[in-house]
Formats: sequence, C-alpha cells, structure tokens
Amino acid sequence: MNDSKLLYFGTNTKMYKTNEETRAFLTELLKLTADLNPDDARLFVIPSFTALTDARKILNASPIKLGAQNICWEDAGEYTGEISPVMLKEIGVDIVEIGHSERRHIFGETDDQAEKKVRAAINHGMTALLCIGETNEQKDYGIQDEVLSMQLKIGLHSITGSEAAKALWIAYEPVWAIGVNGVPISKSYAQDRHAHIRKVLIDLFGEETGSRIPVLYGGSVNMDNALLLMSDPNINGLFVGRSAWEAANFNKMLRSILNR
Ligand code: PGA
Repeated sequence: MNDSKLLYFGTNTKMYKTNEETRAFLTELLKLTADLNPDDARLFVIPSFTALTDARKILNASPIKLGAQNICWEDAGEYTGEISPVMLKEIGVDIVEIGHSERRHIFGETDDQAEKKVRAAINHGMTALLCIGETNEQKDYGIQDEVLSMQLKIGLHSITGSEAAKALWIAYEPVWAIGVNGVPISKSYAQDRHAHIRKVLIDLFGEETGSRIPVLYGGSVNMDNALLLMSDPNINGLFVGRSAWEAANFNKMLRSILNR
C-alpha cells in the first residue's frame, strides 16, 4: 500500500552482475543506506537468479527488499528453464518483477502470461511488480494510453482489490526510453501517462485502493531527471537500471530525492 510520502526506489540489475558482484554491490549499499528510516524509502534490488540465495543472506533482516526478475505461473512441472514461485518463496524473495519490456519484446511474453505470473506471485505471498509500457511505434500511432490500459486490464484481470492493496506495484517503463539506446522521457509525457495509469487503477480497484497502489517510473532514469520525475504526485518512485548499478550512485540519487 502506498503512503504518498514513502519513496519507492530500486534497481533491476538485468543480466549484468555475477553472484560475487551482487554480493559486493549489496554489501556496499547496506553500509551506505544504514542510517535511512524505512518509513521514508522502500528500497529494493532485483539481481540475477543465481545471486538470490546469497543476496537473501546479505540483506538478511535489512529493510532492503529482494526481488526476482521473472517467475513461472506453475508451482512445478515439465517447464525446463523456468523458476517456480515455490522456489522463489523458499529463498525468501519479496518481490517479483513481471513483464519487463525485455521479457515482452525479446522473449515474446504476452499480457496473458503476465496475468498468470501476477496471480502466481500473489498466491505465494510475494509482491507483484507489473511492468507496462508502449513501444515507439505505438507512441507514434498515438495509442500509448490504449496500450497501457490493455496491459493493466489483462495483466491484473484476476486480481482483487484487497490483493492489489497488499501486494501490487506497477512500473511504467516506456520501451523507447529503456536502456543504452533509450530516449529520456519528458516531464509532461511522463505526467500524462502516470495520470492515465492512475485513472485505470482507480477504475479497476476503486478510489481508495487505486489511488494508493505504488506506481514507479523507469527508463533512462539518472541524476539529471530523477528529481524532475519525482515532482509528479502520481509518480511514487523510480525503477532504475544502469544509473543505479554502482552502490554509490544508487545512494547519491536516492539521497538527492529524499533531501529535495
Ligand atoms: P535503464 O533501465 O535505467 O538502464 O534504462 C531501466 C529498466 O529496464 O528498468
């Protein structure tokens, strides 16, 4: 549940950090953020699967939440290469990232699959972080809001209001803004999309719940645009890639927002 003063801030390390590199990153991050009040910031890190077990040990009972980058919707079965929610739960994963643009556009994941994954994460007591966002082509056609509505309505189809209130975060990450070739978003474009997302969440879950679901922004977030983005009341946090993969940069960006 989102308290409007609480900042959500975290990173997905994609397929970049080895287990050893993740351990070093988290150890440094824990030191740098040890003085923070967990009531001010909900921090999270989503490393590779191979780093999850050690990451859990390092984070231990710290307030930094641990996420997984994907999940299978089945508990067990003939699904070679997939990772079951039971396995994630066994490690002590808190959050599951679902439908990241790289999963959708490189590996062909669909909204139907996202819906089953959201269901699985929530059924197993983890928070579902559903990522949505339009492609450049969809933006050019002017159908970005239709795309976002569809991704939310299908991806959250079976989710009840009380589940959404307890265990759902959304990340708006326009495909064209993500990664080294990504184009940083303008403040007004981000504002319009976040207002639309908020409206859809309110339509789906009612005013009380819909207005409190945390909605994060991601895609080429950096020191230069973080504060600008966070000035929008519909943006509850930032989901950062490259710019947060050094613990010192993660901490610096986080502090600049908290001290604004
Ligand atoms: P980026 O990645 O910040 O490196 O653009 C964002 C993301 O993919 O979540």
